[in-house]
Amino acid sequence: MIKVENVSKSFTLNNNKIDILNNLSVNIKEGEKVAIIGPSGSGKSTLLSIMSGMDKPDRGKVLLDNNDIVLMSEQQLCKIRNKDIGIIFQAFELIPSFTALENVMLPLDIADKSDEKKATELLNRLGLGARLDHLPRALSGGEQQRVAIGRALINQPKVIFADEPTGNLDRQTGNKVLEILLEQIKQENKTLIIITHDINLANKMDRIFALNDGKLTEVNEQNNL
Ligand SMILES: Nc1ncnc2c1ncn2[C@@H]1O[C@H](COP(=O)(O)OP(=O)(O)O)[C@@H](O)[C@H]1O
Ligand SMILES: [Mg+2]
Repeated sequence: MIKVENVSKSFTLNNNKIDILNNLSVNIKEGEKVAIIGPSGSGKSTLLSIMSGMDKPDRGKVLLDNNDIVLMSEQQLCKIRNKDIGIIFQAFELIPSFTALENVMLPLDIADKSDEKKATELLNRLGLGARLDHLPRALSGGEQQRVAIGRALINQPKVIFADEPTGNLDRQTGNKVLEILLEQIKQENKTLIIITHDINLANKMDRIFALNDGKLTEVNEQNNL
């Protein structure tokens, strides 16, 4: 379902070229739940940006259902990102002037499928039925991340990317938010790619990859992470 083939990416800062991803390949099947671990600065967020079409690699392919998203126009990409891909960020990234309900409705509105009832139902399932008209600043971190999960799931995408989704939450709140996310994803057998420092969480996924020196290697539980 997602095939990354020989992707390389470098950044140049002050005339200094740094290779972040180096001929990286990975193949993720439909419905698979995958964790990506690795040291800070190793390129995890860069990889996720490239896999989700937010950034382009210098070289290589990113096939989503056999279509190379690297070659797509911004217009095609917008459509795919709206319809097939859901992304959850560490810092929630909600629209500050939009209520919880409006934030979750946004992807529906963009797809010209505005549906207040559907968004309300999803927010109810996420335990936010009493917070529909709240602005993000009036919500706790855990509540904001649940709104962000709603926004990522509302268009029923095939694949969800999550970049350290509990990184800004205390452990207890983070665990609760994860439980809710995994429950929603399990119900519809979605593909999940989650970046995490939490080994317990990584061990709940079908496969674990470590990003080191610009490449992914699969690790398994026996490796005593
Ligand atoms: N737009 C950018 N311009 C220059 N350097 C960048 C840019 N984005 C990321 N980097 C650098 O690339 C490296 C990997 O970053 P990132 O993918 O955010 O790592 P991780 O998510 O694993 O912590 C870091 O050294 C970071 O400073
Ligand atoms: Mg990161």
